[in-house]
Amino acid sequence: MTAPVIAIDGPSGSGKSSTSRGVALRLGLRYVDTGAMYRAMTWWMLHQGIDPSDAATVAARCAEPVIDIDTDPADPRVRVDDQDVSAQIRGTEVGAAVSIVSSVPDVRQRLVTLQRDLVRDALESGIGVVVEGRDIGTVVLPDADLKVFLTADAEARARRRALEDAQRQGTGDAVDHAAVTQTEEHLRSRDALDTGRAVSPLRAADDAVHIDGTHLTLQQVVDAVVSALGSGGASAAESRR
Ligand code: DC
Repeated sequence: MTAPVIAIDGPSGSGKSSTSRGVALRLGLRYVDTGAMYRAMTWWMLHQGIDPSDAATVAARCAEPVIDIDTDPADPRVRVDDQDVSAQIRGTEVGAAVSIVSSVPDVRQRLVTLQRDLVRDALESGIGVVVEGRDIGTVVLPDADLKVFLTADAEARARRRALEDAQRQGTGDAVDHAAVTQTEEHLRSRDALDTGRAVSPLRAADDAVHIDGTHLTLQQVVDAVVSALGSGGASAAESRR
């Protein structure tokens, strides 16, 4: 498979981003972080003073921002109207509002079109792509060569996300029990919104390969994805049933 398309879906904190970037770097593929696009849209709404829970206004305005994401897995920067917002979109304000903004159908329609354009551009240059999100295997790229559904238990996901937040904020490489518990609560509520929404809920595609990363290192998860691609992806999942 010279230019494979790999879809990686799963809940928050399951290690999708590190895995997707690791696979893209290992195989020389492009990388599309669709969560970053929903975050960029949410950042813009907040920046405009739009109430993210005002679905009618969010829908009416969502075609306005120019959202541009780099597909280089080594440095996937995100720009909105030419402003680099790569750091801002990881803030707590955006994190708290992104699920509600991403549940608006017009937002999804616009971003899914952009996502498919990025994949088409990569394939036209003869380069494959790893796309990560919540609905990639089910809605955005149902014909992907490999669909992966990556999970990890809630505490492991919370510990990983709390550590990432602490490192980003420069508050150290260790997290205490309270920070993990609070992050776990945030993840659970975001998972509930992402799984329960009417449009494109978080769900594994029927032919996805399921990987539970709870007790695996990043390298082991990347190895598992690469070997699933080598063994035919969807058909490998089929034979596992
Ligand atoms: O992967 P992430 O945490 O950066 O995603 C942020 C939010 O965006 C997440 O709460 C759900 C939403 N999202 C989505 O609805 N569909 C996608 N394909 C990717 C993310």
